[in-house]
Parts: sequence; structure tokens; C-alpha cells
Amino acid sequence: MSLPPHVLPVRLEHAYRLLNHGPTVLVSSAHAGRCNVMAAAWNMPLEFSPPRLAVVIDKSTLTRELVEASGRLVLNLPPQALADACFAVGSVSSRELAPAQDKLTAFGLERFDMPEAEAPLVGGCLAWLACRVLPEPHVQAAYDLFVVEVLAAWADTRVFEDGRWRPLQDIPPALRTLHHLGGGQFWVPGQALQAAAPARP
Ligand SMILES: Cc1cc2nc3c(=O)[nH]c(=O)nc-3n(C[C@H](O)[C@H](O)[C@H](O)COP(=O)(O)O)c2cc1C
Repeated sequence: MSLPPHVLPVRLEHAYRLLNHGPTVLVSSAHAGRCNVMAAAWNMPLEFSPPRLAVVIDKSTLTRELVEASGRLVLNLPPQALADACFAVGSVSSRELAPAQDKLTAFGLERFDMPEAEAPLVGGCLAWLACRVLPEPHVQAAYDLFVVEVLAAWADTRVFEDGRWRPLQDIPPALRTLHHLGGGQFWVPGQALQAAAPARP
């Protein structure tokens, strides 16, 4: 699979906006001929420019091993249509699969590759952030927290264009982001609200 025609690069200074509303992501990784994907709800922007993000990757995961070895990962934003796959790759570790198997194939996820990313991009997602790890050995060991810098980003123009999310009412429910409550239950954004400009005292 190659980059779909409705996907365009996102300027790096706009990349943080892809995660500003707290979507659950899929973390893809690859090293030494092995690739993997897991779900991660604990992620957040840290800095506008250069764009830095944080994501928690538990020590028990195979993803952790691949990310530490390669220093690279991709954050993929799954839409509602991929909720079951998101829960599946977040519930089953690749450690449970035969070494020759990978979770993308096992759970029917398509992939495509971009030169800027050393890990696969998950097909059918809304946006992709190719990142490098900024090594913080103490923080990684103590808190399972990875600080990463975005090297390149892409988004589906049906949901995000010119550095902004489209108005929520223009995004079909199947293309809205997932927000994990726990146990495979997600909320999907249903209402947009513009707060009034503050009256300064
Ligand atoms: C919706 C969802 C969100 C999750 N968020 C995180 C997270 O933020 N950090 C984490 O370490 N694990 C998280 N997990 C658990 C991992 O995805 C899970 O341990 C996964 O099986 C690891 O796969 P791996 O061993 O193949 O890398 C989440 C699971 C689900 C279902």
C-alpha cells in the first residue's frame, strides 16, 4: 500500500495539533526485520517547535524493546472505524505471537512505508507522526515515558487540512478520533464548543 491520494504532509509547527485533543494512538515500531504496533492512550504534546511529544510505553511490551533498539517510532491516529483493531493490538502482545508473525498482519491492518519513517505507517489511520526518541534514560526507566521529536507528519485531508482539524460536523463519525476510557470502551467526539472570549477583570 502507498500513501493514499487524500493524504498530505503536515507542517512540523502544526504537528502538535494532531494530538492536542488527546486521541488514542497506535505506536508502530520496527527493528532488525521485526515490526510491531500497540495502542497508547497516554500521549501528549510537549513543545510546539521543534515538535516534541511524550508517550508512555510500558517495559513489558515488545514495542518498548523495538523502540529502544531503533530510536524511532510512528504515532498513528486510528479513526472510529479501527476501534476493534485498536483494542486488539492494545490487548494482545506480539510476544504472544510466533516470531515470524506480526500484529499488523495478524489483525488485518494494512501498512505503508515512508522514507522519513523507520517504522510502518498503519493504513486507514487519520494522521501519522514519524518520530525519533530523544534519549532520557532515567525518565524512560523510572516512568516508562518516552520523549520524542516529530521528524515528519501526514494527515488525511478529509479531517485535517492547512494545519487545522476540519469542523467536527464536517467529519463523518467513522473518521473521528478515539478516546479511551478503559476496557475497550472509547468516546468519540460528538460536539464542538467555542468558549466565549474572557472578560478581563
Ligand atoms: C486503548 C488502549 C490504550 C493503551 N494505552 C497504553 C499506553 O498509553 N501505554 C502503554 O504502555 N500501554 C498501553 N496499552 C497497552 C498496550 O497497548 C499493550 O500492552 C500491548 O499489548 C503491547 O503490545 P506489544 O507487547 O506487542 O508491544 C493500551 C491498551 C489499550 C487497549
